[in-house]
Amino acid sequence: MNETATLWWDAATESIRYIDQTLLPAEYTIIECRSIGRLATAIKRLEIRGAPALGVAGAYGVALAAVICRKKDPASFFEEVRRDADVLRSTRPTAINLAWGIDRVVTKMATAADVVSARSVAIAEAEEIAREDTACCHAIGECGAALLPDRCTVLTHCNAGALACSSWGTALGVIRSAVKGGKLVKVVACETRPLLQGARLTAWELARDDIAVTVITDSTAAHLMRRGDIDAVIVGADRITRDVVFNKIGTYMHAVCAHHHAIPFYVAAPLSTFDGKNSERDVTIEERGRDEVTTMGNRTFVPDAAEVKNFAFDATPMDLVTAVITEKGVFRPPIDIGALLSCRSAK
Ligand code: MRU
Repeated sequence: MNETATLWWDAATESIRYIDQTLLPAEYTIIECRSIGRLATAIKRLEIRGAPALGVAGAYGVALAAVICRKKDPASFFEEVRRDADVLRSTRPTAINLAWGIDRVVTKMATAADVVSARSVAIAEAEEIAREDTACCHAIGECGAALLPDRCTVLTHCNAGALACSSWGTALGVIRSAVKGGKLVKVVACETRPLLQGARLTAWELARDDIAVTVITDSTAAHLMRRGDIDAVIVGADRITRDVVFNKIGTYMHAVCAHHHAIPFYVAAPLSTFDGKNSERDVTIEERGRDEVTTMGNRTFVPDAAEVKNFAFDATPMDLVTAVITEKGVFRPPIDIGALLSCRSAK
Protein backbone atom coordinates (compact mmCIF):
# COMPACT_ATOMS: atom_id res chain seq x y z
CA MET A 1 0.00 0.00 0.00
CA ASN A 2 1.27 3.47 -0.92
CA GLU A 3 2.61 5.61 1.93
CA THR A 4 3.87 8.60 -0.08
CA ALA A 5 3.72 11.90 1.81
CA THR A 6 1.49 14.62 0.35
CA LEU A 7 3.69 17.48 1.57
CA TRP A 8 6.92 17.75 3.50
CA TRP A 9 9.71 20.08 4.63
CA ASP A 10 12.85 19.89 2.50
CA ALA A 11 15.70 20.79 4.83
CA ALA A 12 18.32 21.07 2.06
CA THR A 13 16.47 23.83 0.21
CA GLU A 14 14.53 25.16 3.23
CA SER A 15 11.31 24.86 1.30
CA ILE A 16 7.94 23.11 1.41
CA ARG A 17 7.48 20.39 -1.20
CA TYR A 18 4.06 19.09 -2.16
CA ILE A 19 2.18 17.12 -4.79
CA ASP A 20 0.17 19.58 -6.94
CA GLN A 21 -3.34 18.12 -6.63
CA THR A 22 -4.80 20.30 -9.36
CA LEU A 23 -2.76 18.37 -11.95
CA LEU A 24 -3.71 14.83 -10.90
CA PRO A 25 -4.38 12.33 -12.33
CA ALA A 26 -2.88 13.51 -15.64
CA GLU A 27 0.39 14.75 -14.11
CA TYR A 28 2.24 13.91 -10.92
CA THR A 29 4.25 17.05 -10.18
CA ILE A 30 6.12 18.03 -7.04
CA ILE A 31 6.22 21.78 -6.40
CA GLU A 32 8.91 23.52 -4.38
CA CYS A 33 7.46 26.42 -2.42
CA ARG A 34 9.68 29.10 -0.84
CA SER A 35 7.37 32.02 -0.23
CA ILE A 36 4.24 32.72 1.80
CA GLY A 37 2.53 34.31 -1.21
CA ARG A 38 3.08 31.16 -3.26
CA LEU A 39 1.85 28.93 -0.42
CA ALA A 40 -1.28 31.07 0.03
CA THR A 41 -1.99 30.75 -3.70
CA ALA A 42 -1.42 26.98 -3.56
CA ILE A 43 -3.97 26.65 -0.75
CA LYS A 44 -6.55 28.89 -2.48
CA ARG A 45 -6.14 27.00 -5.80
CA LEU A 46 -6.41 23.62 -3.97
CA GLU A 47 -2.94 22.52 -5.06
CA ILE A 48 -2.84 21.52 -1.39
CA ARG A 49 -6.26 20.66 0.02
CA GLY A 50 -8.15 18.47 2.50
CA ALA A 51 -8.48 19.46 6.15
CA PRO A 52 -5.58 17.57 7.77
CA ALA A 53 -3.22 18.42 4.86
CA LEU A 54 -4.17 22.08 5.33
CA GLY A 55 -3.21 21.77 9.00
CA VAL A 56 0.21 20.45 7.99
CA ALA A 57 0.54 23.13 5.27
CA GLY A 58 -0.30 25.88 7.77
CA ALA A 59 2.28 24.49 10.20
CA TYR A 60 5.00 24.27 7.54
CA GLY A 61 3.93 27.72 6.35
CA VAL A 62 4.73 29.27 9.73
CA ALA A 63 8.08 27.42 9.72
CA LEU A 64 8.77 28.82 6.24
CA ALA A 65 7.81 32.33 7.39
CA ALA A 66 10.29 32.00 10.28
CA VAL A 67 13.07 30.73 8.01
CA ILE A 68 12.72 33.49 5.41
CA CYS A 69 12.23 36.33 7.90
CA ARG A 70 15.42 38.47 8.02
CA LYS A 71 14.46 40.48 11.13
CA LYS A 72 17.01 40.10 13.94
CA ASP A 73 15.25 41.52 16.96
CA PRO A 74 12.63 39.16 18.41
CA ALA A 75 9.73 41.66 18.49
CA SER A 76 9.97 42.52 14.76
CA PHE A 77 10.65 38.87 13.90
CA PHE A 78 7.52 37.60 15.66
CA GLU A 79 5.47 40.47 14.26
CA GLU A 80 6.41 39.54 10.69
CA VAL A 81 5.86 35.81 11.23
CA ARG A 82 2.44 36.51 12.80
CA ARG A 83 1.51 38.69 9.80
CA ASP A 84 2.43 35.84 7.43
CA ALA A 85 0.47 33.43 9.63
CA ASP A 86 -2.60 35.68 9.26
CA VAL A 87 -2.23 35.67 5.47
CA LEU A 88 -2.23 31.87 5.47
CA ARG A 89 -5.10 31.63 7.98
CA SER A 90 -7.33 33.78 5.76
CA THR A 91 -6.96 31.57 2.66
CA ARG A 92 -9.69 29.05 3.55
CA PRO A 93 -12.15 29.67 6.39
CA THR A 94 -14.05 26.40 6.91
CA ALA A 95 -11.46 23.67 7.50
CA ILE A 96 -10.45 24.19 11.12
CA ASN A 97 -7.17 22.31 10.77
CA LEU A 98 -5.55 25.17 8.85
CA ALA A 99 -5.85 27.64 11.75
CA TRP A 100 -5.14 24.83 14.23
CA GLY A 101 -1.79 23.93 12.57
CA ILE A 102 -0.79 27.60 12.24
CA ASP A 103 -1.66 28.45 15.84
CA ARG A 104 0.10 25.40 17.22
CA VAL A 105 3.43 26.36 15.60
CA VAL A 106 3.07 30.08 16.44
CA THR A 107 2.40 29.20 20.10
CA LYS A 108 5.33 26.77 20.27
CA MET A 109 7.69 29.33 18.66
CA ALA A 110 6.84 31.88 21.32
CA THR A 111 8.59 29.59 23.86
CA ALA A 112 11.93 29.88 22.00
CA ALA A 113 14.73 31.89 23.63
CA ASP A 114 15.80 33.76 20.48
CA VAL A 115 15.17 34.16 16.76
CA VAL A 116 17.59 31.40 15.70
CA SER A 117 16.07 28.82 18.00
CA ALA A 118 12.54 30.01 17.08
CA ARG A 119 13.25 28.86 13.50
CA SER A 120 14.30 25.37 14.54
CA VAL A 121 11.44 25.10 17.05
CA ALA A 122 8.97 26.01 14.28
CA ILE A 123 10.36 23.41 11.86
CA ALA A 124 10.42 20.71 14.56
CA GLU A 125 6.82 21.44 15.60
CA ALA A 126 5.58 21.38 12.00
CA GLU A 127 7.38 18.04 11.42
CA GLU A 128 5.75 16.72 14.60
CA ILE A 129 2.29 17.77 13.36
CA ALA A 130 2.91 15.93 10.07
CA ARG A 131 4.08 12.80 11.92
CA GLU A 132 1.11 12.92 14.31
CA ASP A 133 -1.28 13.28 11.40
CA THR A 134 0.00 10.10 9.78
CA ALA A 135 -0.22 8.27 13.11
CA CYS A 136 -3.81 9.56 13.61
CA CYS A 137 -4.82 8.36 10.15
CA HIS A 138 -3.51 4.86 10.87
CA ALA A 139 -5.33 4.80 14.22
CA ILE A 140 -8.55 6.03 12.56
CA GLY A 141 -8.06 3.32 9.95
CA GLU A 142 -7.77 0.58 12.58
CA CYS A 143 -10.80 1.82 14.56
CA GLY A 144 -12.95 2.21 11.47
CA ALA A 145 -11.96 -1.03 9.74
CA ALA A 146 -13.61 -2.97 12.58
CA LEU A 147 -16.98 -1.40 11.66
CA LEU A 148 -16.99 -2.74 8.11
CA PRO A 149 -18.34 -6.16 7.09
CA ASP A 150 -15.83 -8.62 5.56
CA ARG A 151 -17.25 -7.95 2.08
CA CYS A 152 -18.81 -4.58 1.41
CA THR A 153 -19.26 -1.63 -0.90
CA VAL A 154 -18.53 1.76 0.62
CA LEU A 155 -19.60 5.08 -0.86
CA THR A 156 -17.36 8.08 -0.28
CA HIS A 157 -17.50 11.73 -1.32
CA CYS A 158 -14.71 14.14 -2.26
CA ASN A 159 -11.22 12.98 -1.29
CA ALA A 160 -10.53 12.10 2.31
CA GLY A 161 -7.48 10.09 1.38
CA ALA A 162 -3.71 10.33 1.65
CA LEU A 163 -3.76 13.46 -0.50
CA ALA A 164 -6.05 15.21 1.98
CA CYS A 165 -3.74 14.32 4.88
CA SER A 166 -0.07 13.82 5.52
CA SER A 167 -0.54 10.28 4.18
CA TRP A 168 -2.89 7.21 4.46
CA GLY A 169 -6.11 9.24 4.80
CA THR A 170 -9.15 9.36 7.08
CA ALA A 171 -12.15 7.90 5.21
CA LEU A 172 -9.79 6.20 2.75
CA GLY A 173 -7.57 5.30 5.69
CA VAL A 174 -10.45 3.22 7.05
CA ILE A 175 -10.81 1.52 3.67
CA ARG A 176 -7.04 0.98 3.33
CA SER A 177 -6.80 -0.52 6.83
CA ALA A 178 -9.81 -2.79 6.16
CA VAL A 179 -8.27 -4.03 2.90
CA LYS A 180 -4.88 -4.47 4.57
CA GLY A 181 -6.64 -6.56 7.24
CA GLY A 182 -8.05 -8.89 4.57
CA LYS A 183 -11.54 -7.42 4.02
CA LEU A 184 -12.90 -7.23 0.50
CA VAL A 185 -13.93 -3.59 0.15
CA LYS A 186 -15.18 -2.04 -3.07
CA VAL A 187 -15.45 1.73 -3.24
CA VAL A 188 -17.96 3.94 -4.99
CA ALA A 189 -16.41 7.39 -5.40
CA CYS A 190 -18.73 10.32 -6.07
CA GLU A 191 -17.11 12.55 -8.66
CA THR A 192 -17.63 15.65 -6.42
CA ARG A 193 -18.66 18.58 -8.56
CA PRO A 194 -17.33 21.08 -9.37
CA LEU A 195 -13.62 20.32 -8.87
CA LEU A 196 -13.88 16.53 -9.11
CA GLN A 197 -11.79 15.58 -6.10
CA GLY A 198 -13.57 12.21 -6.05
CA ALA A 199 -13.12 11.39 -9.73
CA ARG A 200 -9.59 12.74 -9.99
CA LEU A 201 -8.02 12.11 -6.60
CA THR A 202 -9.93 9.36 -4.77
CA ALA A 203 -10.06 7.18 -7.88
CA TRP A 204 -6.37 7.82 -8.57
CA GLU A 205 -5.31 6.93 -5.01
CA LEU A 206 -7.40 3.78 -4.81
CA ALA A 207 -6.46 2.53 -8.28
CA ARG A 208 -2.80 3.03 -7.33
CA ASP A 209 -3.38 0.74 -4.33
CA ASP A 210 -5.31 -1.85 -6.37
CA ILE A 211 -8.53 -1.17 -4.46
CA ALA A 212 -11.61 -1.58 -6.67
CA VAL A 213 -13.18 1.81 -7.34
CA THR A 214 -16.19 2.89 -9.39
CA VAL A 215 -16.73 6.59 -10.11
CA ILE A 216 -20.30 7.89 -10.25
CA THR A 217 -21.86 11.28 -10.81
CA ASP A 218 -22.92 12.77 -7.46
CA SER A 219 -26.58 12.41 -8.43
CA THR A 220 -26.22 8.62 -8.90
CA ALA A 221 -25.64 8.02 -5.18
CA ALA A 222 -29.32 7.90 -4.13
CA HIS A 223 -30.12 5.50 -6.96
CA LEU A 224 -27.40 3.07 -5.84
CA MET A 225 -28.56 3.28 -2.22
CA ARG A 226 -32.14 2.51 -3.26
CA ARG A 227 -30.96 -0.52 -5.25
CA GLY A 228 -29.22 -1.89 -2.14
CA ASP A 229 -25.76 -1.52 -3.69
CA ILE A 230 -24.19 0.50 -0.84
CA ASP A 231 -23.37 -1.03 2.58
CA ALA A 232 -21.91 2.05 4.25
CA VAL A 233 -21.02 5.68 3.58
CA ILE A 234 -17.71 7.01 4.93
CA VAL A 235 -16.67 10.64 4.50
CA GLY A 236 -14.06 12.93 6.02
CA ALA A 237 -14.73 16.28 7.70
CA ASP A 238 -13.47 19.84 7.53
CA ARG A 239 -14.83 20.84 10.93
CA ILE A 240 -16.95 19.06 13.52
CA THR A 241 -18.93 21.23 15.92
CA ARG A 242 -21.28 19.97 18.65
CA ASP A 243 -24.24 20.16 16.24
CA VAL A 244 -22.96 19.46 12.71
CA VAL A 245 -20.24 18.02 10.50
CA PHE A 246 -18.92 20.39 7.84
CA ASN A 247 -17.65 18.56 4.78
CA LYS A 248 -17.53 18.91 1.01
CA ILE A 249 -20.73 20.19 -0.56
CA GLY A 250 -22.95 17.20 -1.33
CA THR A 251 -22.17 15.35 1.90
CA TYR A 252 -25.48 16.39 3.46
CA MET A 253 -27.54 14.89 0.62
CA HIS A 254 -25.67 11.58 1.01
CA ALA A 255 -26.39 11.63 4.75
CA VAL A 256 -30.11 12.25 4.17
CA CYS A 257 -30.28 9.45 1.60
CA ALA A 258 -28.28 7.05 3.78
CA HIS A 259 -30.63 7.74 6.70
CA HIS A 260 -33.66 7.13 4.50
CA HIS A 261 -32.25 3.76 3.39
CA ALA A 262 -30.95 2.76 6.86
CA ILE A 263 -27.34 2.70 5.62
CA PRO A 264 -24.68 3.58 8.23
CA PHE A 265 -23.18 7.03 7.67
CA TYR A 266 -19.69 7.33 9.17
CA VAL A 267 -17.47 10.40 9.49
CA ALA A 268 -13.73 9.72 9.86
CA ALA A 269 -11.67 12.57 11.29
CA PRO A 270 -8.82 13.29 13.72
CA LEU A 271 -9.48 15.27 16.90
CA SER A 272 -7.70 18.23 15.26
CA THR A 273 -10.87 18.63 13.13
CA PHE A 274 -13.15 19.08 16.16
CA ASP A 275 -14.22 22.58 17.13
CA GLY A 276 -15.17 22.72 20.79
CA LYS A 277 -15.94 26.47 20.74
CA ASN A 278 -18.36 27.08 17.90
CA SER A 279 -21.61 25.73 16.53
CA GLU A 280 -22.98 25.70 12.98
CA ARG A 281 -24.13 29.33 12.94
CA ASP A 282 -20.67 30.65 13.92
CA VAL A 283 -18.82 29.01 11.03
CA THR A 284 -18.25 30.60 7.63
CA ILE A 285 -18.88 28.29 4.71
CA GLU A 286 -16.40 29.12 1.98
CA GLU A 287 -17.93 30.30 -1.29
CA ARG A 288 -15.75 29.91 -4.35
CA GLY A 289 -15.59 31.50 -7.79
CA ARG A 290 -18.27 31.24 -10.44
CA ASP A 291 -15.86 29.85 -13.05
CA GLU A 292 -15.51 26.55 -11.18
CA VAL A 293 -19.18 25.89 -11.91
CA THR A 294 -19.67 27.55 -15.28
CA THR A 295 -16.68 26.24 -17.22
CA MET A 296 -14.98 22.97 -18.03
CA GLY A 297 -11.68 23.27 -19.83
CA ASN A 298 -12.19 26.02 -22.39
CA ARG A 299 -15.96 25.68 -22.62
CA THR A 300 -18.58 27.72 -20.76
CA PHE A 301 -21.87 25.96 -19.96
CA VAL A 302 -23.80 28.64 -18.09
CA PRO A 303 -25.15 31.84 -19.65
CA ASP A 304 -23.52 35.02 -18.31
CA ALA A 305 -26.90 36.33 -17.10
CA ALA A 306 -27.42 33.37 -14.75
CA GLU A 307 -26.39 33.67 -11.11
CA VAL A 308 -24.22 30.89 -9.72
CA LYS A 309 -23.80 29.63 -6.15
CA ASN A 310 -20.63 27.72 -5.37
CA PHE A 311 -20.52 26.70 -1.71
CA ALA A 312 -17.45 24.58 -1.03
CA PHE A 313 -18.97 22.81 2.00
CA ASP A 314 -22.28 21.94 3.64
CA ALA A 315 -23.32 21.00 7.17
CA THR A 316 -24.73 17.60 8.15
CA PRO A 317 -26.68 17.54 11.43
CA MET A 318 -25.34 15.08 14.01
CA ASP A 319 -28.58 13.10 14.12
CA LEU A 320 -27.80 11.84 10.59
CA VAL A 321 -24.35 10.62 11.64
CA THR A 322 -24.12 6.99 12.77
CA ALA A 323 -20.66 7.44 14.31
CA VAL A 324 -17.52 9.55 14.13
CA ILE A 325 -14.33 7.52 13.78
CA THR A 326 -11.35 9.18 15.47
CA GLU A 327 -7.84 8.16 16.50
CA LYS A 328 -9.22 7.73 20.04
CA GLY A 329 -12.05 5.40 19.07
CA VAL A 330 -15.54 5.41 17.59
CA PHE A 331 -18.08 7.86 19.03
CA ARG A 332 -21.82 7.78 18.45
CA PRO A 333 -23.80 11.05 18.75
CA PRO A 334 -24.48 12.83 20.99
CA ILE A 335 -20.74 13.47 21.31
CA ASP A 336 -19.26 15.42 24.20
CA ILE A 337 -16.64 17.35 22.23
CA GLY A 338 -15.20 19.01 25.34
CA ALA A 339 -14.46 15.64 26.91
CA LEU A 340 -13.02 14.31 23.65
CA LEU A 341 -10.70 17.29 23.23
CA SER A 342 -9.48 17.02 26.78
CA CYS A 343 -8.34 13.49 25.95
CA ARG A 344 -6.25 15.08 23.15
CA SER A 345 -4.59 17.58 25.49
CA ALA A 346 -4.03 14.86 28.11
CA LYS A 347 -1.82 13.02 25.58
O1 MRU B 1 -12.20 21.74 -0.84
P1 MRU B 1 -11.39 20.56 -0.38
O2 MRU B 1 -10.99 19.66 -1.48
O3 MRU B 1 -10.24 20.98 0.50
O4 MRU B 1 -12.41 19.77 0.54
C1 MRU B 1 -11.96 18.62 1.19
C2 MRU B 1 -13.03 17.88 1.88
O5 MRU B 1 -14.16 18.30 1.97
C3 MRU B 1 -12.63 16.59 2.54
O6 MRU B 1 -13.68 15.70 2.55
C4 MRU B 1 -12.25 16.91 3.99
O7 MRU B 1 -11.26 17.91 4.04
C5 MRU B 1 -11.79 15.73 4.71
S1 MRU B 1 -10.13 15.38 4.34
C6 MRU B 1 -9.56 14.07 5.21
